[in-house]
Amino acid sequence: MTDQVDNATSRRQFLRFLAASPVVACTGLAARAGESVSSPANLPDPVNWRALLTQDLIRNPAEAINVFDFELVARKNVSPGHFGYMASGIDDEVTLRANREAFAKLQLRPRRLNDVTKVETTTELFGVKWPTPIVIAPTGGNRAYHQDGDLAVARAAKARGHLQILSTVASTSVEDVIQARAAPIWFQLYATQKWEITQALVRRAEAAGCPVLVLTVDRKAGRNQETFLRLRRTDSQECSGCHEPGLKGLVRMKPNFDGIDVSSLTTLESPNLTWDFVNRLKDTTRMKVVLKGILTAEDAKLSVDNGVDGIIVSNHGGRAEDSGLPTIDCLPEVSKAVAGRIPVLVDSGFRRGTDVIKGLALGAQAICIGRPYLWGLGAFGEPGVERVLEILHTELEVGMKQCGVRSIAELSPAFVHRV
Ligand SMILES: Cc1cc2nc3c(=O)[nH]c(=O)nc-3n(C[C@H](O)[C@H](O)[C@H](O)COP(=O)(O)O)c2cc1C
Repeated sequence: MTDQVDNATSRRQFLRFLAASPVVACTGLAARAGESVSSPANLPDPVNWRALLTQDLIRNPAEAINVFDFELVARKNVSPGHFGYMASGIDDEVTLRANREAFAKLQLRPRRLNDVTKVETTTELFGVKWPTPIVIAPTGGNRAYHQDGDLAVARAAKARGHLQILSTVASTSVEDVIQARAAPIWFQLYATQKWEITQALVRRAEAAGCPVLVLTVDRKAGRNQETFLRLRRTDSQECSGCHEPGLKGLVRMKPNFDGIDVSSLTTLESPNLTWDFVNRLKDTTRMKVVLKGILTAEDAKLSVDNGVDGIIVSNHGGRAEDSGLPTIDCLPEVSKAVAGRIPVLVDSGFRRGTDVIKGLALGAQAICIGRPYLWGLGAFGEPGVERVLEILHTELEVGMKQCGVRSIAELSPAFVHRV
């Protein structure tokens, strides 16, 4: 956030330096460098005309021009510790940045002279048609950003027809979120290391009516969330005011565990997951089983061989390991290995309609988003989430028209050029 402000400031200082420099005084650059440019032919980079500044915070969702506008407001509203938890990557945050930077290395190849007066954004997952391929990724602890938490997200998803995936460690129970969404949602499973707890969570999700179980397979060890740890130090709030200390205290705040005996629980991470576990899980439930966190062709092939019903190509939004591997670059090899036999979804770093188009073109049936809707939630609650979804969907429709495609099925890798 402050980077943008700092960049704009230092750029202006640099341009002033150029304007004053005798070296460039007679080269024409000086005319560009001053801020009193009068001829349109000499306009400098547009960022100098209206850079995003912290004093320009949007006052309501309607004022937002893009999803990033919500991040600044969420940063102001949400306590530093909670905001830092949301924003954080791991270690040097190479993966976090790579998730975004990778999109800039992929260019779209738009086609012309197709009638795109009407575009169809419908996608189908396990026989259910969704009006949009943009999916709400599971995120835990959403009441940290707004008191209405997952309920606000569910109502926004309902208003705009989005599929929602609910986290095991959501702030609200799966039953209450289904009621607010007024439609089935998918349940994300942190299996823990205790089969009895896994089984109880699975039974609960199934009884609540979830058709799909999303097993997260990329959280196997602890993690060094540096942005979170540093911002938490600046937070004057007393954590113990809201959080009971330790794992048991944490789990007590997570209603999906209500009524489940968690006395044997020592961690929420699952270093013991294997393909045998996946098979056992499949034998335990009628729900479709989707693996979240697959990044390689090898694991994609094993997923199909083991009867997995779907894959989410994900690096947890740069919050698992700091591999440096962006998911949009993993997607082609996973799509190729799967060869259309099971649906592939993708997440991590999707912020623009054109990002969504690149994901769909490279083989995903749907794109999950995490932080953008949390920015909307932290900024304005339910209307903020709804506007984030509206912006992304509008950008998607506009992008599809510009690419000359009328449906998601028309997108293919031929629409993407790698720089
Ligand atoms: C604050 C936060 C909490 C998250 N909690 C979970 C979770 O409980 N379970 C899970 O599978 N993924 C979780 N994720 C990862 C998301 O499901 C998703 O993979 C990621 O946010 C996508 O990247 P993006 O934030 O860049 O869109 C979380 C992500 C964030 C930002």
